[in-house]
Amino acid sequence: MKIAVYPGSFDPITNGHIDIIKRSLLVFDKLIVAVNDNPHPLKPYLFNIKERLEMVKEALSSYQEVEIESFKGLLVDYIKKKRARFVIRGLRALSDFEYEFQMYLMNKRLNPDLEMIYFMTNQKYSHLSSSIIKEIARLGGKTKNFVPPFVEQMLHKKFANLTPI
Ligand code: PNS
Repeated sequence: MKIAVYPGSFDPITNGHIDIIKRSLLVFDKLIVAVNDNPHPLKPYLFNIKERLEMVKEALSSYQEVEIESFKGLLVDYIKKKRARFVIRGLRALSDFEYEFQMYLMNKRLNPDLEMIYFMTNQKYSHLSSSIIKEIARLGGKTKNFVPPFVEQMLHKKFANLTPI
């Protein structure tokens, strides 16, 4: 059975992530969606780990081949613990490449057996990112076409009592 891990912050999960998951399942028998539970060094998460997991679980509830869990510590250690070898990442614009390439080289250095596989974004979702969706929601815009309905509700709840400034 071919297993891959799809790690990310998922703050929150978007339709772009779901597209990558669907396409990964064309190649792998099982996918572990691993939600990062390390504090972010540069920007704090909007949703806590419980909320991020809840949104991922709700969005992927119909996918039997997907397992969802959080992970702490280094990705390479988590991969080893899961006895997996393949890691999936999505690539949108050229600007993603530098960060992804650095992450790839470092992960590979830490565990040479690991292989990272990149899916090019679906053109439909190339403009989506969790950050931009949070900004739209924070400023009162509609996120219906970008995230699953449950995530839309969570975003709405999060920003309901905030006056845009
Ligand atoms: O969705 P993101 O924020 O782009 O995901 C980044 C993620 C979670 C995959 C990356 O930050 C990660 O692997 N974090 C775990 C800690 C780690 O291993 N850091 C070293 C990466 S070279």
